[in-house]
Amino acid sequence: MTKTTISEVHKFVGNEVTIGAWLANKRSSGKIAFLQLRDGTGFIQGVVVKSEVPEDVFQTAKSITQESSMYVTGVVQKDDRSPLGYELLVKNVEVIHQAVDYPITPKEHGTEFLMDNRHLWLRSRRQHAIMKIRNEIIRGTYEFFNNNGFVKVDPPILTGSAPEGTTELFATKYFDENAYLSQSGQLYMEAAAMALGKVFSFGPTFRAEKSKTRRHLIEFWMIEPEMAFYEFEDNLKVQEEYVSHIVQSVLANCKLELKTLGRDISKLGNIKAPFPRITYDEAINLLHEKGFDDIQWGDDFGAPHETAIAESFDKPVFITHYPTSLKPFYMQPDPNRNDVVLCADLIAPEGYGEIIGGSERIHDYNLLNQRIEEHNLDPAAYKWYLELRKYGSVPHSGFGLGLERTVAWISGVEHVRETIPFPRLLNRLYP
Ligand code: 4AD
Ligand code: MG
Repeated sequence: MTKTTISEVHKFVGNEVTIGAWLANKRSSGKIAFLQLRDGTGFIQGVVVKSEVPEDVFQTAKSITQESSMYVTGVVQKDDRSPLGYELLVKNVEVIHQAVDYPITPKEHGTEFLMDNRHLWLRSRRQHAIMKIRNEIIRGTYEFFNNNGFVKVDPPILTGSAPEGTTELFATKYFDENAYLSQSGQLYMEAAAMALGKVFSFGPTFRAEKSKTRRHLIEFWMIEPEMAFYEFEDNLKVQEEYVSHIVQSVLANCKLELKTLGRDISKLGNIKAPFPRITYDEAINLLHEKGFDDIQWGDDFGAPHETAIAESFDKPVFITHYPTSLKPFYMQPDPNRNDVVLCADLIAPEGYGEIIGGSERIHDYNLLNQRIEEHNLDPAAYKWYLELRKYGSVPHSGFGLGLERTVAWISGVEHVRETIPFPRLLNRLYP
């Protein structure tokens, strides 16, 4: 017996193999049964012909219920009509466990129902495809940073400081002290960059944001690179090369998944560095031209603004030099203009919004100290962070890419809730 997986059947054309699988769906008539089989690595159709198998095997195939598990044995055949390119001519079915009344049937279900059944919904073809693309983006991320001399560093999750402002913190008790779940590893990554030069992190991030939009999660995953001696423009170059790399990796390695999702891949092919850049000032003018009369210099952009700006470009676009008042305390001011900072947000095409926030960091001790005071931050919590500017301070820059928004964009999925296995949303901590 040759035991294999659906992803490997191409190696066994004309041979008999056994696959451990679940029944995703089924169609049958008096003479033939079509079993849609899945095993985690993929989906394949099993064909059971009554006249070619013992009667009990045909009866088993006809009566097996959705999501029952089995070992199925059959001969691999090429089949150009199927998405996989192969099907299985079934010889035997050995049921392991009969599922009873699987709640997610092939009919349409509402989103809340599917979210309540997220632990099962993950098995569907669509969710399978999204998780595979998420995995490919993670793989491509490690590949890119490892190939470019970065060291992976893991910042803590339990922290005593607030890099992105104090309003969105998840507080918890740390024995007798107050602690917060990390809302960004950036400050720690700056320390790591001073030790290791070019570093990146990949970890969970928590924001107690009362936002109920298709772009917001309470818990999401962020990739945060930080580079010593990198100035503003150097930072943008890393970002556009990194984003190009992951888009091209998904295009090359997730063809079937993109097809399953019905993604229009013509919009992804040309996502290659360099990306266009516009300043915040230019973005305001562009919005005025597009009829957003109310927006004024100093206002932050909402989702409709970002979507309107993105529509003018067929690649992700950097919006640079935001007003200082809109951004966190650590951003380096523009040397030519004190009212804007050396930062950039990267806005994805097709209305997927901001996928990266980044900047050059203040490296002057006194200026950073002043900013901490202006933002009413607790100086004791930032003492170590300030000390990075006391011992061989250097210009440095970094950014954070939100994984789920990036998965949503590349997959063409409307809402970030489908891009993470178990989304934490406003009003949802289950399952
Ligand atoms: O722009 P943000 O808040 O930047 C930072 O946290 C910086 N400290 C990163 C850095 O420079 N090291 O967040 C970065 C990205 C956003 O562009 C977005 O993609 C994602 O994180 N993000 C969220 N994704 C899902 N749900 C949320 N609530 C998110 N908030 C931010
Ligand atoms: Mg941001």
